[in-house]
Amino acid sequence: MTASRRKHFIKTFGCQMNVYDSGRMADALAAEGYEPAERPEEADLVILNTCHIREKAAEKVYSEVGRLRALKEARRRAGGEMLIGVVGCVAQAEGEEIVRRAPAVDLVIGPQSYHRLPELLRASRAGAVVETEFPVEDKFDHLPAAAPARLRSAGPTAFLTVQEGCDKFCTFCVVPYTRGAEVSRPVAAILEEARRLVAAGVREITLLGQNVNAYRGQAADGAEWGLARLIEALAGLSGLERIRYTTSHPRDMDAALIAAHRDIPALMPYLHLPVQSGSDRILALMNRKHRRDDYFAIVEQLRAARPDIALSGDFIVGFPGESDRDFEDTMDLVRRIGYAQAYSFKYSPRPGTPAAGLEDQVPEAVKVERLAALQAELDRGQARFNAATVGRRLAVLIEKPGRKPGQMIGRSPYLQSVVVEADPGRRGEIVETLIRSAGPNSLIGDIIAGGEGKEHRAMEAIS
Ligand code: 5AD
Ligand code: SF4
Repeated sequence: MTASRRKHFIKTFGCQMNVYDSGRMADALAAEGYEPAERPEEADLVILNTCHIREKAAEKVYSEVGRLRALKEARRRAGGEMLIGVVGCVAQAEGEEIVRRAPAVDLVIGPQSYHRLPELLRASRAGAVVETEFPVEDKFDHLPAAAPARLRSAGPTAFLTVQEGCDKFCTFCVVPYTRGAEVSRPVAAILEEARRLVAAGVREITLLGQNVNAYRGQAADGAEWGLARLIEALAGLSGLERIRYTTSHPRDMDAALIAAHRDIPALMPYLHLPVQSGSDRILALMNRKHRRDDYFAIVEQLRAARPDIALSGDFIVGFPGESDRDFEDTMDLVRRIGYAQAYSFKYSPRPGTPAAGLEDQVPEAVKVERLAALQAELDRGQARFNAATVGRRLAVLIEKPGRKPGQMIGRSPYLQSVVVEADPGRRGEIVETLIRSAGPNSLIGDIIAGGEGKEHRAMEAIS
């Protein structure tokens, strides 16, 4: 088998940062002569990029590996090979345990060591390799730049990691342990990567970070830039029409960033700002470092800066000690804020986190009941938000084919999916669309005008 014909298959679980990391690993593997396989059966290397945020994450990985082991043996019988890699947050959390429990795994790599993938891959031929250190060097300085062909095929939207890790230590969360301390990438590296994305046809970039609004990156002159300044610089790139960022912590929502929502038209009127709970007592137990009134105050400032801003959030129900009254405070917060979208979860004790050891764990049946009530309220809010866009003209970035022939799907400024009738050749265009109807999860619209360029930015605003 020649090196150039080797194939890899990467299966990605979890958050957008894992999606981004998988892309960067694919680039590193391309430099080693690997190309993507359509299916794991055809791959010489299968990588599971894993997530550890909620329950049964590790169990899911072990059962995936079990399935792969059968494929690995089949390939070996046919005279081929299949190396199996487990990377990401479960790899970081479980480390050596993975190769002990699942000897079919050749390679275990934590999120901060992806730049060593080619070297570790070679070493794994001599026996299983486990790498879960937090190296001092920045992996992004050592990973090859994204391949233009991969970027072009990925379409008009892209993720770009600008910050990683978390210093907040919410008591329920594994992220500070799996991703490590907060680190921001330097400004020049981000601008360079953004230019490459735009040159490959990307029109919208979502800046990623576990605490993206805590971004503090070094500029070329040694100055430290916050996220607002970075967004302003990115907005100056010709061809980049839309900028988003996620995920933010209320504590780091500073005045400059709020003002950016007023002043920078390319910054989309949408913000994912998790609050987790509406109860001050639970927020304190969660070590969130803010109260519910702080959250209301931030949202008020955001809405003063950008009245049409769509808000999204994350919620946890059934945190240890959560009473009916605490939960009612969450419901009240949800009703008062009016979310356009949201994610909600039952609390799941994560090994090694402080909350896992708290007494007063909430019974599963109560969690189930609270989650259903919360989700019903959030769904109503989302339906209301979507319905309010009917009859409006929104700028839609056409992204991909829809389910039916002749249909394309795009995104509104508020991140809603919009189904339009359009030629596939219009992928990447921003078109003015009259919203005809709204469902719970998407809108249907008619294109009334389309085209290229920044003159369309004006209409990203309200019409
Ligand atoms: N249990 C339930 N949900 C969790 N999240 C993080 N840790 C846990 C946990 N232990 C949720 C939070 C976070 C989102 C990414 O996942 O809401 O914002
Ligand atoms: Fe986890 Fe809290 Fe950090 Fe978010 S801010 S990654 S929830 S510890």
